[in-house]
Amino acid sequence: MARRKYIVGNWKMNGRLADLSAIRAIAAEAATLPDVDAALCLPATLITAAAAAAPGFAVGAQDCHMKDKGAHTGCLSAAMLAEAGASLTIIGHSERRTDQFESDSDIRAKALAAQAAGLNVIVCVGESEAERDAGQALSRVLSQVDASLPDEASPQWLAIAYEPIWAIGTGRIPSLDEVAEMHGAIRGALSERFGAAGAEFRILYGGSMNGGNATELLALEDVDGGLVGGASLTAEAFAPILKSAQG
Ligand code: PGA
Repeated sequence: MARRKYIVGNWKMNGRLADLSAIRAIAAEAATLPDVDAALCLPATLITAAAAAAPGFAVGAQDCHMKDKGAHTGCLSAAMLAEAGASLTIIGHSERRTDQFESDSDIRAKALAAQAAGLNVIVCVGESEAERDAGQALSRVLSQVDASLPDEASPQWLAIAYEPIWAIGTGRIPSLDEVAEMHGAIRGALSERFGAAGAEFRILYGGSMNGGNATELLALEDVDGGLVGGASLTAEAFAPILKSAQG
């Protein structure tokens, strides 16, 4: 089964109600591309308004708690996000692994909680610059894939985003050979662990993807889409990436 291209915007802590027009424009662009699954992961405060403003377009969150309710001040459960209008969530972004000290086992629990609430999940992995320089990129990322994915993971609801930390928001990306090597290694690990289903998981690349580099990145065999930060904030910047995925 061919894997459909999956292009997901990660708005991080950006976006106010005044930006609903950009969300509408991105959704309208995505609706013209039948071979691409597109989504925007928004601040939780925008999810309900965005889902109403762009019916039929996939709106997501950027995190969820692993519990479904309780004494966790400031946190949101996956069921709350689903009720707000989310159909997916990012889990384990490197900014959360760093800023909120999220561990691989937190991420595994969050992925399962999200799935239980009916959300699709994108689990993020990626090495630091020091790890790449030390020749540890592959081992670091494969260990995150191993420990962050639950045994119950299925390509029906879970995708992986490979995001080298040093490429996020910097304008730098790995060479195409390095991206191909990493995605191929992740594919190999998924096939070893999940058997035939391993070939069906979508593996996204993230980190300074933009309209100028998306076509060559998305042409690589095991690059099934992109997780896009800065270049997803406007329709002008995001549309060329969505179009590259359509081919
Ligand atoms: P960037 O962010 O595209 O701005 O590098 C990607 C991400 O952090 O998901």
